[in-house]
Amino acid sequence: MMDRQMEPELMDDPAQVKAYAEADFEIPHQQFIDRLREFVAEPGFAGAALDLGCGPGDICVRFAKAFPFSTIDAVDGSEAMIEYAETFTAPIKDRIRLIHGRLPFVILPQQSYAIILSNSLLHHLPDPQVLWRTIKKTARPGARVAVMDLLRPASRKTAEALVETYASQEAELLRRDFYHSLLAAFTLEEIEEQLKKSELPLHIEQISDRHVFIKGIIP
Ligand SMILES: C[S@@+](CC[C@H](N)C(=O)[O-])C[C@H]1O[C@@H](n2cnc3c(N)ncnc32)[C@H](O)[C@@H]1O
Repeated sequence: MMDRQMEPELMDDPAQVKAYAEADFEIPHQQFIDRLREFVAEPGFAGAALDLGCGPGDICVRFAKAFPFSTIDAVDGSEAMIEYAETFTAPIKDRIRLIHGRLPFVILPQQSYAIILSNSLLHHLPDPQVLWRTIKKTARPGARVAVMDLLRPASRKTAEALVETYASQEAELLRRDFYHSLLAAFTLEEIEEQLKKSELPLHIEQISDRHVFIKGIIP
């Protein structure tokens, strides 16, 4: 199995932000929301959610539409991402609060949340416990947690093949970032170890050839 090769933690190059924001994530992002919806099972949910590593805000907007009475605090450490998200989420700005801040240092406007979601942040973190500790600290009892990320393939060759299969139509910059993200991602076994160490009672499942979905209810 190929070792993990980290990529820069924050995505703060404006060209990279644009390439990411313009890429087609319709299928994985909608699947993320659909899985979350099954699991929250309460379309009338009127509480506060927290999106960790929100990027350009596509997941925030999908979440806000799926749960029309919810509010969302969305955090990203990249100023360029937050700027993009400000424009992108503007039509729903009364329910989405964007916060420029980096985990684990960010100071959140609220102490605890009923739903915590995070897509594609974990593989960016040098220390993955930063995500699990933040979830532990900010989840209120009974909180729903949903985390999705990429899985590291066994070899560079497999990573190249995944880029070909899923990003052949995308900009070169996006293809490069996707490749490096696959190399920076964790394996299923590594994430299992992280969860054990964090003592978070979350369930982990591989849901596609490149995605893992981690979910659970905080006691
Ligand atoms: C691959 S993007 C995912 C964006 C979004 N969740 C989505 O699914 O479209 C990862 C984001 O995490 C942010 N990030 C990385 N490390 C972070 C940290 N320690 N604190 C906050 N944001 C971080 C990056 O700046 C980037 O915008």
